[in-house]
Amino acid sequence: MGTTQKFTRWTWPLTAAVTIVVGVWTLTAQQAASNPQTIVDNAYKQFQTLKEGKNADYIPALAKVDPNLFGIALITVDGKVYTAGDVKTQVSIQSISKVFTMAQVIQEQGLESVEKRIGVDATGARFNSIIAVEAIRTVVGAGAPEMNPLVNPGAIATTSMVLGASADEAWNRILGFHSAAAGRQLFILADVYKSESDTNQRNQAIGALMLAYGYIKHNWQQAVDLYTRQCSIGVNARDLAVMAATLAFGGRNPVTGSHVIDASRVPGVLAVMATAGLYDDSGKWLYHTGLPAKSGVGGGIIAVSPAKFGIAVVSPPLDIAGNSVRAQYAIAAISNALGGNPFAPTVASL
Ligand code: DON
Repeated sequence: MGTTQKFTRWTWPLTAAVTIVVGVWTLTAQQAASNPQTIVDNAYKQFQTLKEGKNADYIPALAKVDPNLFGIALITVDGKVYTAGDVKTQVSIQSISKVFTMAQVIQEQGLESVEKRIGVDATGARFNSIIAVEAIRTVVGAGAPEMNPLVNPGAIATTSMVLGASADEAWNRILGFHSAAAGRQLFILADVYKSESDTNQRNQAIGALMLAYGYIKHNWQQAVDLYTRQCSIGVNARDLAVMAATLAFGGRNPVTGSHVIDASRVPGVLAVMATAGLYDDSGKWLYHTGLPAKSGVGGGIIAVSPAKFGIAVVSPPLDIAGNSVRAQYAIAAISNALGGNPFAPTVASL
């Protein structure tokens, strides 16, 4: 369970000094209880033995990933890193990439570009729609865009919007953007890319439909391929936490210092994560944590406590909605212990 400390703008040294004056034993215990590393370690221990959920297997390569893989990383906006478990083994980023391709298009073309072409709604249904009870979030009509960039139709169309004169140019931009957010050069996991390319007929059908309805302007095959590549990018829990912390820090990577997304565009990205990041369970997740988040079927979840921290957990077994079971438990426990819920502002104990 490693801890890497960077800048310490927050108050550990001061707290330690007060401890000596006021009473060593009492405050030391309190300090330990609110120490982010202790909280991360405790969550790791608490959920390490949890065996709920099952690896995704509709992409054959994902079924082969070790279900015991479990890593937690928390990164504050001033660059402190707290980890537990395996934060080095890579999994495919999968749908978490949708956040960063959405952010990239918003960065390149403005907040309105995605809102007008794709939509930023949680569902495509009217407030009193009866049919939506059956057809919820598969409505891809010819009317006003009422999707969002975090579900497959909207995500594939969003990927098609990334600028680039050729597929290679667009791909280099996508990989470059993800790498800047993660703070290191990322690469595709070739086995996952091949496995998903061989079995993604459903996404191909969605791509063709999105062209037919005008959400994709040309070459749906290229859009689906780029989308499949972005989903196959390899990341570990630490990478994902840096990416989440970049969003928490107003678009600047708190570890490398590089500017990735304009601060004025980050709230739009977080809003879509809050409404749609965990699919069917987005509302339940928000109710319990208040955190904009995004899951991937590779087993990762990122979550953002704006202006405080980004957190990520990798654990492949998923629940029925397609969200990592242990990641949900661990992130909720850690964030709630740290006062991370933006709807319940308290003095952060970090
Ligand atoms: O398109 C797919 O099915 C996958 N590449 C991504 C799905 C995914 O990650 C959904 N996440 N919870």
